[in-house]
Amino acid sequence: MNSRERASTAPVCRLCAGPVRECVDLGRQPVSNAFLRPQDVGSESFFRLAVGICADCAMVQQLEAMPTSHMFRADYPYRSSSSDGLRRHFEQVAGWLRDTELTDPADLVVEIGCNDGLMLRTLGAAGVRHIGVDPSAGAAQAAAARGAEVRVDFFDERSAAEIRAERGPAKVIFSANTISHIADIDEIFRGVDRLLRSDGIFVFEDRYVADIIEHAYFDQIYDEHFYLFSVRAVDAMVARFGFELVDVEHIPIHGGSLRYTVARPGVRPVRECVARLIEDEARYGIGEHDTYVRFGQQIDRIGADLVALLTDLRDAGRRVVGYGATSKSATVTNYCGIGPDLVPYICDTTPEKQGRLSPGAHIPIRPHEVFADPYPDYALLFAWNHAEEVMAKERRFVEQGGRWILYVPHVRIV
Ligand code: SAH
Ligand code: TYD
Ligand code: ZN
Repeated sequence: MNSRERASTAPVCRLCAGPVRECVDLGRQPVSNAFLRPQDVGSESFFRLAVGICADCAMVQQLEAMPTSHMFRADYPYRSSSSDGLRRHFEQVAGWLRDTELTDPADLVVEIGCNDGLMLRTLGAAGVRHIGVDPSAGAAQAAAARGAEVRVDFFDERSAAEIRAERGPAKVIFSANTISHIADIDEIFRGVDRLLRSDGIFVFEDRYVADIIEHAYFDQIYDEHFYLFSVRAVDAMVARFGFELVDVEHIPIHGGSLRYTVARPGVRPVRECVARLIEDEARYGIGEHDTYVRFGQQIDRIGADLVALLTDLRDAGRRVVGYGATSKSATVTNYCGIGPDLVPYICDTTPEKQGRLSPGAHIPIRPHEVFADPYPDYALLFAWNHAEEVMAKERRFVEQGGRWILYVPHVRIV
């Protein structure tokens, strides 16, 4: 291959067209939420889950995108309301928006990726004009049952224009754990531009790449997390689409996330924390390729240690069960090659996942009630982001001699 050919095939940043250098390769991976029926084994879609960083704008991004039509289908099983922690969080967000931004009865809030309506039901109950947009019909149905109004659709320029024509412009557009999922992010920003009132705000929450790096949360990388946001890269991204990043708040959700507040330029004061966080990121090398190469080496170590531990426990006749059929567990099991021989089943409270097999690794998902019937010797905590809640709920497991296995930032038994 000559250098011109190489240049034409090198990965290019989805945002600024700069060169993207690969740094982490998690191998062949399935659609992380495609829990399959036993009769559907053999029909799964796989892709290479690899991450690179743009040399120009520092956006960390996947090199191959799984089509969203494979990920967010009518039977998408993720439900935000499966944890008390998230329930409390979204009630707080709703209260904050209601008290600060949505004070006039005419104000409209639009939520992108509202899922089962955890946030919108609180606003709906308070009489706030709202609409959620989510393509996952099953989740949207659950939202509607809770009194939230939902449009089963992808948010893009087309749906945003239709919502504006029907209801007028939005004072607030909110989104949690969705914006980073969408490789074609220009559609989102064109939609926001169409729909947002001139004095409105676009608020979105997503996992923070600095937390992922600091705690080696490698399983936060899966198909849906197409971008791993940093303040520097988001600041540049929103500016490219004609907006301004005016505020950033660190929140403890999913092991560490940021809440970004975006407005039209000059409309809202820019808080000094934006520049401070960008400086902190520079100090910690969050925009540097080398940082991610070291992260990749740490992932290799965690994978080897986890497989060694699970193999030893199996050979010693110990029973290990997975706890929480998270999207994260798809990355861990498929990257490490962990199947039902090492983890015979995963317990999960989500009815939509139970009775299915985990994507790629084909570990059976069983109801939460099975966990105590009888308790295993060890529980591999895939839902580590809900550790406090889970460990408080499962005190009896430990009292009866059970132990938890955690694997980030390193493999250990607690
Ligand atoms: N906001 C919830 C759900 C996050 S899961 C929470 O934080 O818990 C991501 C959600 O985004 C899914 O329900 C998915 O169906 C939805 N989604 C994916 N692409 C979307 C798009 N283009 N427009 C609107 N919703 C989308
Ligand atoms: P979560 O970590 O929120 O999501 P993801 O990695 O997919 O983004 O998913 C938590 C999963 O764990 C969800 O399927 C519900 C399950 N769960 C339990 O089974 N028991 C629990 O006590 C909690 C909090 C979650
Ligand atoms: Zn770039």
